[in-house]
Amino acid sequence: MAQIKKASESLTVMTNIVLPNETNSLRNLFGGELLAKMDRCASISAARHCARRVVTASVNHVSFKHPIPEGGIVVLESKVSRAFSTSMEVYVDVWLDDPIAGKKIHTNEGIYTFVAVDEYNKPVPIPQMEPETETEKLRFDAAQRRKELSLILSGRMKPQESVELKKLFCD
Ligand SMILES: CC(C)(COP(=O)(O)OP(=O)(O)OC[C@H]1O[C@@H](n2cnc3c(N)ncnc32)[C@H](O)[C@@H]1OP(=O)(O)O)[C@@H](O)C(=O)NCCC(=O)NCCS
Repeated sequence: MAQIKKASESLTVMTNIVLPNETNSLRNLFGGELLAKMDRCASISAARHCARRVVTASVNHVSFKHPIPEGGIVVLESKVSRAFSTSMEVYVDVWLDDPIAGKKIHTNEGIYTFVAVDEYNKPVPIPQMEPETETEKLRFDAAQRRKELSLILSGRMKPQESVELKKLFCD
């Protein structure tokens, strides 16, 4: 039987303090610095899921809801949200942790696609993923639509070939 893994097996948590050289002119964490951290965190989750080398195929979505100030403690948590044949979607949640006030603010999220590759950069099959929590199930269900959207936007799929998004583009 093909191997099935849980989302929690790919959980990756990275905690950093925002240093002055990582900030913009408003002394908040520079967006590009955060994107690099998110990509690193997500790639570790992807590698943990498939036990292979992985490459970023697409950054499907990133939102910036709340600024992260200099000196802030930034916590990134990522997990595989769905595995396909050789590719997998990884969800990254970013939190601003204030241990003095005892508060944690959800500042950002990002959705990435990684592909498992062999030593010749050729895509290879990966284990499937079974969601457990309510959030994992919601993200798992929506991942098929996001995959199709990403493939259409990157010119790898014709809208009429899409199962879930055909109506959005073709009707
Ligand atoms: C990603 C890469 C390995 C795909 O190789 P390919 O020969 O085009 O392989 P395929 O067309 O078979 O695609 C492989 C999988 O990736 C998925 N995929 C490829 N591009 C995608 C995109 N933009 N969005 C979503 N999924 C994508 C395909 O749907 C397929 O998924 P599946 O097997 O799970 O159904 C190749 O394009 C590559 O090496 N890109 C550069 C990666 C890189 O350097 N990243 C770092 C950037 S700094």
